[in-house]
Amino acid sequence: MTKGESIFYCHEKAQKARMILLRFLCLFVAKDLSATIAGMQISEELRRRFAEAERVLVLTGAGISAESGVPTFRGGGNTAVWKGMRFDVISSAEMVERDLPAVWEWFDYRRNFMDSILPNPAHYEIARWQERFPDFTLVTQNVDGLHQKAGSRDVVELHGNVWRARCTVCGLGHDMSQSARPDACPSCGHELRPDVVLFGEMLPRGAFEFASSKAASCDLCFVIGTSALVYPAAGLPGIARAAGAYVCEVNPERTPLSDLCDEVITGKAGEVVPRIGAQ
Ligand code: APR
Repeated sequence: MTKGESIFYCHEKAQKARMILLRFLCLFVAKDLSATIAGMQISEELRRRFAEAERVLVLTGAGISAESGVPTFRGGGNTAVWKGMRFDVISSAEMVERDLPAVWEWFDYRRNFMDSILPNPAHYEIARWQERFPDFTLVTQNVDGLHQKAGSRDVVELHGNVWRARCTVCGLGHDMSQSARPDACPSCGHELRPDVVLFGEMLPRGAFEFASSKAASCDLCFVIGTSALVYPAAGLPGIARAAGAYVCEVNPERTPLSDLCDEVITGKAGEVVPRIGAQ
């Protein structure tokens, strides 16, 4: 402001500057918003395939439960740590051998945490799809039971479920969703362990074989909320793609699978999945 210029004049300049800044911000936000919406666009091709699909496979990962408040394992750069131990240490077969009580402490904590967690719109939308498609398969890497809480049936749980325990000797499973964890196997009295696939362990017998046979025969495959770093689960979309299915990924970040997919929708599952179904 030069000497002698009236406050008003300066005020006018400031006003102009504010308007220019505001216009710039609006442009920027609009551009960003349109990019976000563009990233979350659902193509005509996907709309058509969704409307015509007979055999649909959905693979989910930790990301689908993120909006319910369940931390993911890797997305967002941080890694879950329990009492100073990385999650892949406390959640390992070796730890079950070395210190089963410590493993139970970690899984009891996770179960108690999950007790108040509710499914989000993505879980509910997918539960509706089992009525919509003649042949629908839901495969999850998640152990949180939120798909079932949302009403999904016959969920193929590749990595087990925190609400179940199983005997370390006779293998008998024990449901903990309605009752407390028993001290020992009700059948043979041996130690129980979490019925979750831990690092260094094989998947439950038949689960992956069933999932891959469905992937090889589906015409539409969705990959929702997984970093696609853990195999064999991350191999399912490739099996579907190789068999001619249309593969669509939903994730706020790109993954090693993104280039393989026919369509990538960049966004949060809770916002995108209901929009896919809302047609
Ligand atoms: N909606 C969709 N995807 C999301 C969201 C969201 N709201 N928030 C995060 N994501 C994405 C992240 O970008 C990331 O790609 O979810 C993914 C989560 O990746 P991981 O934490 O690696 O989970 P997941 O792929 O399920 O891990 C596979 O690894 O640790 C083992 O056994 C564990 O089942 C788990 C397996």
